[in-house]
Amino acid sequence: MKVIKTISQMQLESEGIKHNNKTIAVVPTMGYLHDGHLSLIKKAKQTADYVITTIFVNPTQFGPNEDFSKYPRDFDRDYLLAESAGSDYIFFPDSKEMYPLPFFTSIIVSNVSEKFEGIFRPSHFQGVATVVVKLFNITKPNIAVFGQKDYQQTMVIRSLIRDLNFEIELIVVPTLRESDGLAMSSRNKYLSESERKKAGILFKAMEDVKTAIAKGECDRKMLNSYMHKKLREIKEIKIDYAACATSNSLEEPEFFLPGEEIVILIACFLGKTRLIDNSLMKIPGKLNQSNFVEGI
Ligand code: PAJ
Repeated sequence: MKVIKTISQMQLESEGIKHNNKTIAVVPTMGYLHDGHLSLIKKAKQTADYVITTIFVNPTQFGPNEDFSKYPRDFDRDYLLAESAGSDYIFFPDSKEMYPLPFFTSIIVSNVSEKFEGIFRPSHFQGVATVVVKLFNITKPNIAVFGQKDYQQTMVIRSLIRDLNFEIELIVVPTLRESDGLAMSSRNKYLSESERKKAGILFKAMEDVKTAIAKGECDRKMLNSYMHKKLREIKEIKIDYAACATSNSLEEPEFFLPGEEIVILIACFLGKTRLIDNSLMKIPGKLNQSNFVEGI
């Protein structure tokens, strides 16, 4: 596996691969790899000839009081893990390489970036969109692999691929979880032993919503209240949001319709650690004409 630190060399390698009519899948990460990241790399390897894993803790997607400086980093460990999962390259630039001064441009994906995460982390998706567009232009992939773990992020990437005419196929891989349902995350390392034991509550809260939906509940506020109730069982939890929305546009109607796919979204602090998770579910029943009154 090759490690590449400069943009010009990465572009040269990618051009060489394309010149030989081979395909590239990119897996953008911030490193401190876990099995969730590795499932993305393995999926990438199944779909393209070459896999480029990028490792860059992107400063522009962190807010001023967030964890940029203490975000976990361990390149040697990441190298071995990425190689074992089948990566052919690691693109590992430093901040000066990615953001040489002066730097004037950034990408704003409106609409989807303005909801949920966007409210609590106002410039986050701007930082994500900008770095991902740069990574696309640097690695020149045919395929980009992202995790459902960051649901809104996948929506942002889908929008920018469409709006900016990138010829890239987006593949979204399901969230890998620990045995108690906690979504794997580099940030789980911050949890104390006792916090870790309580962190499975996010998964349980989403399960409660799913049970209510299966029993026929489709009132959005009721569904949200089940989640809040469950999360409040842990007194160290501070909820940013725990909400259901339509999966394709993150709208929040009063009632969800039969057949509609929804996404259950949670972001909360457990102590000082911010955790996010989500789950998709279809509202039972068929969407049929009788749900609508003609002419309205
Ligand atoms: P990072 O948090 O390192 O995540 C990299 C990729 O791994 C993302 O697509 C994320 O959704 C996916 N991922 C994380 N945990 C996962 C899990 N438990 N199961 C499956 N996939 C998981 O997301 C970022 O980095 C950054 O915002 C980035 C896109 C690299 C831009 O800087």
